[in-house]
Amino acid sequence: MLAVSLIWYSLLQNTACKQKSCRSRVQIAVASFKEVLTLTKKSVKDIDLTGKRVFTRVDFNVPRNEQGEITDDTKIRAALPTIRYMLAQGAAVILASHLGRPKGKPDENLRLDAVAARLSLLLGHHVQKLDEVVGEEVSLAAATLQPGELLFLENVRFHPGEKSNDEALAKAYAGLADLFVSDAFGTAHRTHASNTGLAKYIPAVAGLQMATEIEILSKCLHNPQRPLVAIVGGNKIADKIRVLHNLLRSVDSLLLGGGMANTFLKAKGYQLGKSLVEEDQLAVAVKIMREAATLKVNLCLPSDLIVADSPEDGTSAQVVTVDLVQADKMALDIGPQTRKSYGDLVSKAGTVLWNGPMGVFEVDAFAQGSIELLNTLVQSEAYSIVGGGDMIAAVKKAGVDKQISHISTGGGATLEFWEGKELPGIAVLQEK
Ligand code: 3PG
Repeated sequence: MLAVSLIWYSLLQNTACKQKSCRSRVQIAVASFKEVLTLTKKSVKDIDLTGKRVFTRVDFNVPRNEQGEITDDTKIRAALPTIRYMLAQGAAVILASHLGRPKGKPDENLRLDAVAARLSLLLGHHVQKLDEVVGEEVSLAAATLQPGELLFLENVRFHPGEKSNDEALAKAYAGLADLFVSDAFGTAHRTHASNTGLAKYIPAVAGLQMATEIEILSKCLHNPQRPLVAIVGGNKIADKIRVLHNLLRSVDSLLLGGGMANTFLKAKGYQLGKSLVEEDQLAVAVKIMREAATLKVNLCLPSDLIVADSPEDGTSAQVVTVDLVQADKMALDIGPQTRKSYGDLVSKAGTVLWNGPMGVFEVDAFAQGSIELLNTLVQSEAYSIVGGGDMIAAVKKAGVDKQISHISTGGGATLEFWEGKELPGIAVLQEK
């Protein structure tokens, strides 16, 4: 799918270590990634953008509260460098995004007006927001858009043809522009009209965020600084089986936490009380543990847990070893002994990939596992990559978002990338 040039990598690493007195090793690692990796896909930097009309797919699918207010604008901020760069180069920029999962028709709660307002504020630039995805009004606005101006379409998933990758819709998008720039890594695993379909009709290149995600994730998966430690949490093994299989082929240690660790513990014969366990995945857990042993991967499970009566009831929280979970309790976080043993491995890691929290981090009583391990991670010298919406929230709760080497904007896309899949939204980008 993607060739990454790593010539001089070791040489630069050695040189970098000698410069340790001026920069921390994490900074050096980040710089080294950027210095030595060459993306084979074309990006906006490889194109003359002057006077071009550019259809730009972004992923502004931001979390919102019940009032529809944006609770985290990480994804909007992540697209700013690409937008600023294109405007400065004299391009006329047409932005398209989805928000939520409307059913192929307008949904008043999922309009992009609040997102457009936030974008305008962050960018310090006027954003002309339309209420339609395609049609006469859109075509006219796009045709009269001037270099340095910005147009923002309505939620692309309001159109029934978006998710079905309808030809006519893809053609209509392509008809608005000379060039397609994809900066939506978060939707790169989807085959939709606005992120793959239109690439049949106009040249497609990566935005800066997309290029960075591809470069960093590829490097960490295929040629990481070792030891490579993956931390996988969250609830469902079923969603992550292929990721776990693929990671076993590249990692030195795999640390499991969250609900999914319960299923592995149950498969080892422990009684987990009322804890969430995927009974239909017990055989899969056994298979993964056997595979890890064959591949000599250090697969780690919690040795102690924080248990309570319910996920909401922090007051009943107590620490127990995994062999002593009472019948009326549920496991909701990793315990102190596990935090210490996982922390020891993280402290010595060269690279850490992390997807999914260690517990119900939204409730303070069950957040300690994720927070303490995140603190250990940022104090270590490891290059750290954290992905998925829950982890972005956990990283912010721990107050370490500025210290993580790379926060991936992808949720499902990052996982599918780690599965070793060619993502359709990347496959459509032109080779250099
Ligand atoms: C995400 O939040 O992971 C992306 O925006 C993709 O959203 P989707 O899963 O609704 O396609």
